[in-house]
Amino acid sequence: MRRGAQRVRPAPVSSPTPPTASQSTLPPSDLEEAARLLRAGELVGFPTETVYGLGADARSEAALRRVFAVKGRPGDHPLILHFADAESALAAASDVPPIARTLADALWPGPLTLVLRRAAWVPDLVTGGQDTVGVRVPSHPVARALVTELGGPIAAPSANRFGAVSPTTAAHVRADLGEDVALVLDGGPAAIGLESTIVDLTCDPPVVLREGGVPREQLAALLALAPVGATASVNRAPGSLPSHYAPRAKVVLVGKDALRTEHERLADEGARVVVIEAPADDDALSALAHDLYARLRAADAANTDVVLAVLPPERGLGAAIADRLRRAAAPR
Ligand code: TXA
Ligand code: MG
Repeated sequence: MRRGAQRVRPAPVSSPTPPTASQSTLPPSDLEEAARLLRAGELVGFPTETVYGLGADARSEAALRRVFAVKGRPGDHPLILHFADAESALAAASDVPPIARTLADALWPGPLTLVLRRAAWVPDLVTGGQDTVGVRVPSHPVARALVTELGGPIAAPSANRFGAVSPTTAAHVRADLGEDVALVLDGGPAAIGLESTIVDLTCDPPVVLREGGVPREQLAALLALAPVGATASVNRAPGSLPSHYAPRAKVVLVGKDALRTEHERLADEGARVVVIEAPADDDALSALAHDLYARLRAADAANTDVVLAVLPPERGLGAAIADRLRRAAAPR
């Protein structure tokens, strides 16, 4: 595995003032060029602490349309708006419940997306025609510096084609999207490696629409959430299709006890098999989250037939990892 041993911890909560170009890890000229391309309606790949985004200037209808065309994504799937600070992010909502501020104070910048009632200025293309908007303040300094340099929100889905595995390095974005993206800013491997947690605050109690970088336990310490699997939300996260985040290889879930025999059986059949095992402790879970998508991509690159996966315990990041593996294993 290319980065198997490398450990990158999620970025610590950063300063309340958005970083400027000079504080990001990239030369200011790269950020200026990226912002110039965005203003011209082009798409730019950029790093966040979760996964790489395919960024468009949210104020440009042409650019937003390009995002859907390039991703091959249905038009009713809304896009997340990325901001440099909580105040601007919450200004995309027509109604900001107190809990939104609590979550923003505690968890932004970071891997959390809040679904709120949209403000009137938010384009229909961003909301997918719904009356809500998903907003987030990423913690990656390059992402925040890019938003600051642009001077407006960046609409960005994960920078992969629809249904495929999200990119966690700049090289993944280039491999997936090639010439369709004008520029890819390289901010190193994504620290977390899984998408943001999406919480719908427009219903009571709030619902987790997608497990992600902020573990459910951390949210539950701050607010009363609807139980797992509750259907209180009228909003869907349309990306939460049963089959999603899938590599080309067939993904098969297996119990820990059956792993060995199943592995042997497949190998006897001549199948090329890659095993993803459930780690036990929290550090190993973060490491698996960090590497999961790169490992699925590496499996495809090695012409793997079957990824044999044991689900991790569903606590901490284990819940999001289990969610992605289940979707990757779902019938296509
Ligand atoms: O970590 C992330 O969230 C990454 C980085 C780039 O920020 N972005 C990402 O975007 O994963 P995307 O488009 O691949 O997934 C966003 C999910 C989709 O399932 C979409 O349907 C859902 O968020 N979503 C966005 N706005 C929503 C809304 N107003 N209501 C319900 N779901 C929404
Ligand atoms: Mg995605």
